[in-house]
Amino acid sequence: MGYASKAPASGQRTAMAASQAATRIVAVANQKGGVGKTDLTVNLSCQLAALGKRTLMIDLDPQANATDYLVSPGTPAGKSTADLLLDDSVTLDEVVMEGCRENLDVLPSSQSLSSCQIRLANDINMQFKLKKKLRAITEGSRSYDYVFIDTPPSLGLLMVNTLTAANGVIIPVQTQYFAMDGVVQLQETIKKVREDINPSLHVLGLVLTMYDRRTLISREVAEKVRGEVGERVFSTVIPVNVRLAQAPSHHKSIFEYDPGSSGARAYRELAKEVLGCPDA
Ligand SMILES: Nc1ncnc2c1ncn2[C@@H]1O[C@H](COP(=O)(O)OP(=O)(O)O)[C@@H](O)[C@H]1O
Ligand SMILES: [Mg+2]
Repeated sequence: MGYASKAPASGQRTAMAASQAATRIVAVANQKGGVGKTDLTVNLSCQLAALGKRTLMIDLDPQANATDYLVSPGTPAGKSTADLLLDDSVTLDEVVMEGCRENLDVLPSSQSLSSCQIRLANDINMQFKLKKKLRAITEGSRSYDYVFIDTPPSLGLLMVNTLTAANGVIIPVQTQYFAMDGVVQLQETIKKVREDINPSLHVLGLVLTMYDRRTLISREVAEKVRGEVGERVFSTVIPVNVRLAQAPSHHKSIFEYDPGSSGARAYRELAKEVLGCPDA
């Protein structure tokens, strides 16, 4: 079960307008749960859209948190990313929820995505499913500046599909002990996908999330990550902010819910940094 399209097309309106090379497809990944992936995907997508960038947010997590975050309850169910990945005849156009916000379209998720990994495992082209469906974008019949993909907390087939389709990865890292657990494993997976399937894939950077400047542990972890990681770490740090925790239940981005909050300020800064990435 996903959500039906309702508002006017933002992707299609400008179809053919932008070339394929201009679309940045960015995965937000970390196989740990609760590190702020969904929060970052939703709010970064909303801010880039607000800055006038045509944006598509893809929810590839069966928990559908990003979809629930942005879509009002009661919106009729339509096709979801599960249909897109499992049924070769389903097109991107059939699944896209257009005009979710100005300049922002959404590919909604649904619970049925949870059986996807098992069902895809029997398919010879299993890791190329998403990439194939995104050809509508990469080959120019739909136009976006940015595509952000929210991913599930695992390194399974949904993640491999994401990394095969993406050209950039943002890795949110929670400023807690064990923050880097699994990041090395993710980096190895990214390296493998780059070598074997998708040479254009690269890490845009790590983002420190849920940072509490009052605690020693947050400061220590932030310092350690900056000192030890070979990758770029974005200067913007996402603070722990109760308004960020509250916004999803109101189905509002942090900019709609509390534009003056520290969370909103941080995501505005992060969006500027992402826009400034030479390769994003
Ligand atoms: N910076 C933050 N400050 C406070 N709460 C946050 C922050 N970022 C995320 N949250 C909340 O923490 C929980 C986990 O975040 P979420 O983005 O869903 O993580 P993930 O997608 O990695 O599982 C959610 O309830 C979310 O609303
Ligand atoms: Mg999530």
